[in-house]
Amino acid sequence: MNRFSKLFIGGCLIGASFFVACQQESNSETQAAEAATKDQAPQPKKELEMNEPSELALLMRSMYDRNLALKKQIMEGDIPESFPEDFLTIHTAKANEKLNETFDALAKEYIKNMEAITKAENREEGIKAYNNMVGTCASCHTIYCQGPLPKIRKMRIQEGES
Ligand code: HEC
Repeated sequence: MNRFSKLFIGGCLIGASFFVACQQESNSETQAAEAATKDQAPQPKKELEMNEPSELALLMRSMYDRNLALKKQIMEGDIPESFPEDFLTIHTAKANEKLNETFDALAKEYIKNMEAITKAENREEGIKAYNNMVGTCASCHTIYCQGPLPKIRKMRIQEGES
């Protein structure tokens, strides 16, 4: 392996360690990694230019982490009394993409579904409300920013999962 392809693979790994961005970049990354292991001349890579994550992207990453913690909590039968207030900034956080009324409507729905979790009376209702909430993440992400969809789908609590 020559020095260039080592550098190149290094670059890919740095790229991969970043959170899934909006574009599905995993395919081209895999292809690039394959090309690199075969010692083919690498193509110039767009992925290596890293944009600053937007306010909204940072909020999303943090919602992802905290909602996974919430999943665990709900599966233990512990229904939260409230949800983190900064989730409300989904309406005002600056995004890289251009957003419109559809985004606002779905963002409202998402917040409503977060609230619904706090009103659940027991574990079963909590699980249902949690899955509805994940459903709104997914609805919005089928329209905007499809990259994280597979990760979002995995957030759901499956039947029989405990
Ligand atoms: C109302 C629409 C909407 C909802 C609801 C929503 N998202 Fe997003 N999400 C977006 C948009 C738009 C972006 C892209 C932000 C940008 O372009 O700056 C994004 C970006 C992301 C990213 C990528 C951040 C990055 O690193 O670039 C992740 C991960 C994510 N969302 C996860 C989630 C999860 C998990 C939920 C639910 C808990 C959720 N989203 C709910 C619209 C939404």
